[in-house]
Amino acid sequence: MSAPPVVSGRTAVITGAGSGIGRALAQRLAAHGCPVALCDWNEEELRETAETIGGPVLTRKLDVRDRQGQMTFAAEVREWSPGPIGLVVNNAGVTTSQTVADASPEDDEWCFDVNFWGVVHGTRAWLPVMQEQGHGVIANVSSVFGLIGFPTQSAYCASKFAVRGFTESLRHELRGTDVRAVAIHPGGIRTNIVANARFHVDDQGGTDHAKMNEDFKKLARTTPAKAAETIHTGIEKGKSRIMIGPDAVALSLLTRVAPVRYYGVIDKLSGLVR
Ligand SMILES: NC(=O)c1ccc[n+]([C@@H]2O[C@H](COP(=O)([O-])OP(=O)(O)OC[C@H]3O[C@@H](n4cnc5c(N)ncnc54)[C@H](O)[C@@H]3O)[C@@H](O)[C@H]2O)c1
Repeated sequence: MSAPPVVSGRTAVITGAGSGIGRALAQRLAAHGCPVALCDWNEEELRETAETIGGPVLTRKLDVRDRQGQMTFAAEVREWSPGPIGLVVNNAGVTTSQTVADASPEDDEWCFDVNFWGVVHGTRAWLPVMQEQGHGVIANVSSVFGLIGFPTQSAYCASKFAVRGFTESLRHELRGTDVRAVAIHPGGIRTNIVANARFHVDDQGGTDHAKMNEDFKKLARTTPAKAAETIHTGIEKGKSRIMIGPDAVALSLLTRVAPVRYYGVIDKLSGLVR
């Protein structure tokens, strides 16, 4: 007999649900019977997501950097939820594209604060709830850039390595319990992440944000819907680390085969597609 689903049918909480992976995940989980509690700092896009959801949905405007705001959101969701919380996905994220030498410190801090502290505050708001229930999954969105460094992505890579370290540490703390911590590492997913970036320069030295976004959309082969499917099925299968897309799987392998020299390979291969 197969194990009962840990996510489908139970309440799911998703941050950054106004766009991209968060929106697709909200739609998929709602279609699998989950009441969904969604937040984003972009109220209008969040409303657009909610309009596409058939079942029970709660939306709140929330900046994930707001520690107290995350606690208040968790309390509101608990009150609203018809049953236990099955899954929390700390998904909201941003990037900035700039070199270390010429970086705007404000943009680096914005990127790190949203991506890392947003995940930490979300985890701390929900961990006691999961522990009280005795079960549940906290899934934190890192990236393939939580496995490799990449030119012009120093703050983003640092934040995503940090999410990975934080989540894996939590996973080990939770060993032997039914509360799980899962790290998610998407490869290129066709979303608004680059369009929404604080852009200064790309990895080829270009300063055209629109062009960088076009190049990204060509390279990012995985759709948000496919990413949502991979996350959902990966969690149901009990995975602790979820790679999304063939590029993520290949890069993960490459870091093990060439842990220091991986960028030479990436540069050569991307030269072939440029
Ligand atoms: N798209 C990719 O190729 C890719 C690859 C690896 C990792 N990721 C990660 O996936 C996650 C989702 O990104 P996406 O690609 O769907 O991008 P996206 O820009 O389409 O969606 C991100 C959402 O997060 C929201 N958000 C940003 N800052 C916020 C804040 N401070 N508080 C609340 N909400 C906030 C945005 O308004 C947006 O709705 C991010 O953590 C991103 O780093 C994306």
